[in-house]
Amino acid sequence: MRPEDILNRKALTLNQSQRQFYFEKGYLTLHKLIDFSQIVSLRKALDSVVDLSREVVGSNQQFDLEHGHSNETPRLRRVAFVDDIDDELWSLCDNSIITDIAVDILGPDVRFRDLFINFKWAGGGAGVKWHQDIAFYPHTNVGTCQFLLSLEDVESAQGPLQVIPGSHKGPIYRHYDALDEWRGAILDQDLSTAGVDNAIELTGEAGTLSVHHSCTIHGSAQNMSTLGRPMLVITYSAADAIPYTTPPYPSSHYGALVRGIQPRYAHHEELNMPLPPDWSGGYTSIFTHQDSLKD
Ligand SMILES: [Fe+2]
Repeated sequence: MRPEDILNRKALTLNQSQRQFYFEKGYLTLHKLIDFSQIVSLRKALDSVVDLSREVVGSNQQFDLEHGHSNETPRLRRVAFVDDIDDELWSLCDNSIITDIAVDILGPDVRFRDLFINFKWAGGGAGVKWHQDIAFYPHTNVGTCQFLLSLEDVESAQGPLQVIPGSHKGPIYRHYDALDEWRGAILDQDLSTAGVDNAIELTGEAGTLSVHHSCTIHGSAQNMSTLGRPMLVITYSAADAIPYTTPPYPSSHYGALVRGIQPRYAHHEELNMPLPPDWSGGYTSIFTHQDSLKD
């Protein structure tokens, strides 16, 4: 569905100026959207996920370990497939105010793609280089978006998400290096035209929700503070945006229709869409791919 058609529909949660801001800037922040009591409950779910990681000794498709991880002192970069671990986490994706906001910006028919937790541990938690999500999961149109829900207060020192406003209207960049190796990041030579100097940080209190368009260029710095920065990261697509590559995190809920009805047509946009590697043998890690990219 085209943005103008979405804007002509009645919204469930957002007001019209918020939706217009999203389509114009490629992101939106909603401060303290989720009640603190629910954040406390979600933190418990997070603690359970961390406890599961204690027995993990090496990174795998589900657990992406930060350097120094151990049973006694867990340090995590990312845990995926968490919608299959905890019912409350899946409920947040399947039927919540976040699902309603997805309808407001994607259209009435919405699919769940994945949910993972980015931890950005205190004392050096990994940053993420500039990239566009659509380069990781091409669709027949760009109607996909990613929500980040802060489980703790996030200030500048913790390495908040940074976005380049309006960059979703520009090109979709290659995420391969000069040797044609996948790096999961935009190369420095392309960044000069991408407007990095205009990037803004999305800080906010616990319970703050941000959403960014799949073509918006974004990244984040390392967390050198003494406070963690755990984020729930939920990705949805419009049901008529059809993916044509293997998903990185095919949980049992991948592709589930969470709002609306099954479409009878795919929406195709004319796009010059770069392709990621074939991950049918298993996705590894954005952090590992980006680590091998020289700054
Ligand atoms: Fe991303």
